[in-house]
Amino acid sequence: MKGEQFSFPADFLWGASTAAHQVEGGTHNQWSVWEKQHAQTLAETAEKRLGWLPSWSRVKPQAQDPQNYISGAGVGHYTRYKEDFRLLKSLNMNAFRFGVEWSRLQPQEGQWDEAAIAHYKEYIAELKRQNIEPILTLWHWTMPTWFTDKGGFAKRRNLRYFDAYVAKVAELYGQDVRYVLTLNEPTVYAGFSYGAGEWPPQTKNSLQMVHVMCNLARVHNRAYDILKAANPKLQVSIAAQLADVRALSSGLLNKASAAVHEYAADWWFVNRIRRHLDFLGLNYYFTEYRDALLRVKNPKVPTSDLGWYMEPSGIQRLLERTWAKYSLPIIIVENGLADAQDVQRKWWIEETITAMYNARQNGVDLRGYLHWSLLDNFEWAYGWWPQFGLIHVDRTTMHRQIRPSARWFASQIVRYSTPV
Ligand code: BGC
Repeated sequence: MKGEQFSFPADFLWGASTAAHQVEGGTHNQWSVWEKQHAQTLAETAEKRLGWLPSWSRVKPQAQDPQNYISGAGVGHYTRYKEDFRLLKSLNMNAFRFGVEWSRLQPQEGQWDEAAIAHYKEYIAELKRQNIEPILTLWHWTMPTWFTDKGGFAKRRNLRYFDAYVAKVAELYGQDVRYVLTLNEPTVYAGFSYGAGEWPPQTKNSLQMVHVMCNLARVHNRAYDILKAANPKLQVSIAAQLADVRALSSGLLNKASAAVHEYAADWWFVNRIRRHLDFLGLNYYFTEYRDALLRVKNPKVPTSDLGWYMEPSGIQRLLERTWAKYSLPIIIVENGLADAQDVQRKWWIEETITAMYNARQNGVDLRGYLHWSLLDNFEWAYGWWPQFGLIHVDRTTMHRQIRPSARWFASQIVRYSTPV
């Protein structure tokens, strides 16, 4: 029967994701401070860092402009959220992942901001009025400066500040949502901020990186208990960036080193929190072929605007391995590509849907798919030029324009969700 092969359950979550700092505009946190200090240097060094990109001649003017590196007014989502939810709905989606911004809720130590509290209350209420399942992220890499001034997550004694923030959010919104993601990609944050030393606080110290990862695992486990005590019905997880790690050859040494890398990159962190997860939130961007010396040896094409090798079907292997390891329900909470011209997004999504369908057929309890991202947004140290949005945003007028791939995706959601 045609059509049947691609049906998904009627309650499957189809949606898109965002992060507060990347879309809201007007945030003040350790990232916004860092951006202002580094915009000039990032613009000056752009060619050296990014000149190899196939998209370089196209993105060069923006990548060499210091303004590219300032999140600033964002895409105005803080005030335009109702319009954005309507757009999401018009794409036939039923779920939305968003962040509450800690630095807005608690701009000073021990001080809660009533206007921000009311804002997110209303924001969540609006999602529910529009019949959209809210999926709330507590921490997506940004923090109030008073917290990072104390050393942030590098100091174990600071974890109590995050506990207090979690308790407050649980008290405020814990009855309004069903899904909470405590931390976004803790290993990516620790890796870039404390390992590679590229993101604030630009510390390059492997020991400290591991220490931060351990603290993030601790803080997640504590947050889980706090949230569940406030509302036992909450479904709590993290957004884990997991890669589909593959051995370049079938040689024993190669297979062994790929397995070691997979353990370190994918499973080590999840293992530390596995007893504090109701489901697994999974972010997938990368299939990586690793040689025996752990070097990435990916095929040269196809790549996204960021030069990332794309093998969207790799998510099937990843879903199946993750399921085999943890037997937890899975929601894909990020998946997408930088594609300003919208030439590859449809293909990526199509491949992904097939992969999800196959994984479900093979027994994986996959319950939802949230595309990264709903809107073009601020791509951290790359700034504004990479465009991940299903919806393009013109940052001068803030006008939103649905991309053709998103319209196509919307038509598929209807097709797949209809029982045949
Ligand atoms: C992050 C997002 C980011 C996306 C694309 C993920 O690692 O959670 O904030 O925009 O990847 O790079």
